[in-house]
Amino acid sequence: MESKIKKIAVFTSGGDAPGMNACVRATVRTCIYFGIDVYGITGGYDGMINNRISPMSASSVGNIIQYGGTILKSARSKEFRTSEGRKIAYDNLVSHGIDALVAIGGDGTYTGALKFSEEYGIPVIGCPGTIDNDLSGTDYTIGFDTATNTAVDAIDKIRDTADAHNRVFFVEVMGRHSGHIALNAALAGGAEGVFIPEKENEFEDLISFHKNKRREKQFSIFVVAEGDEEGRAYELANAYQQHFPEADTRVTVLGHIQRGGKPSANDRILASRLGAHAVKGLLEGKKGVAVGVINHEIVFTNFEEAIYGKKEINENLWIMNGILTRS
Ligand code: F6P
Repeated sequence: MESKIKKIAVFTSGGDAPGMNACVRATVRTCIYFGIDVYGITGGYDGMINNRISPMSASSVGNIIQYGGTILKSARSKEFRTSEGRKIAYDNLVSHGIDALVAIGGDGTYTGALKFSEEYGIPVIGCPGTIDNDLSGTDYTIGFDTATNTAVDAIDKIRDTADAHNRVFFVEVMGRHSGHIALNAALAGGAEGVFIPEKENEFEDLISFHKNKRREKQFSIFVVAEGDEEGRAYELANAYQQHFPEADTRVTVLGHIQRGGKPSANDRILASRLGAHAVKGLLEGKKGVAVGVINHEIVFTNFEEAIYGKKEINENLWIMNGILTRS
């Protein structure tokens, strides 16, 4: 493949997501396959500013595909939001002769990449790495599948103790402004209800349903997206308790366990495809875009669209979940 690009650097940024290592591995090995020198930046944009930039080899990404976290570390950089910080970062890249970047992360990472490429003209391709699945331009983001499986595993365990004590649990899952993890985990975990920022009035519906047709069994699991308002799981548990004074309610916040752990096979495959196609995209002259998979096909989407084009929740899943929990 003939290209002006001879040196590519890869980094991970923002909240880590299981599968980021697989994406780094694919990026590095695809570069080497096409005869491109490849560098790793440790610590995201902060690492770029602090010149933590070093060459990588095929073996430096060996034995990492099965691990969560990211061997390149991650950060949310305040300094990179300043033009002074970005200037230092650019000078460091130039000093290593780096021609192009693969940025693995979420909307904050894409926002930084967009600004940087506009200011300095350096080609950047983004790979969607966030458990939240809240980026447009891809059906799924790296880490979403693993995080959802982790949440489902936790819900299964909570169900055992809920059943044993006839308790009602409100389980809070991650997803800063989005309900993708919550809806999918609720459906797969057989939860009795789900609360997500994309939908309103679920609580009133749930209460009227439970008042009219309370189940034989006394225990229930409700899944609450953290983005549905801070502390919402506690609020909902209190409100539920008031409507049903006989209920014994508990709240479990799953938190950062959803960010760690062995990536699922789906996440490893998705991440590998995205890393490889990010490099191919750069060599074909693409820039200022994010790579994604839509309907099983690789697609490239402008950063603006990937960041601001709201990724809707799957309406069919929402409707189906309603049918399964209200019959
Ligand atoms: O963006 C991924 C995410 O895990 C969100 O679901 C969550 O709100 C946030 O990151 C937590 O961020 P931090 O790493 O700052 O705790």
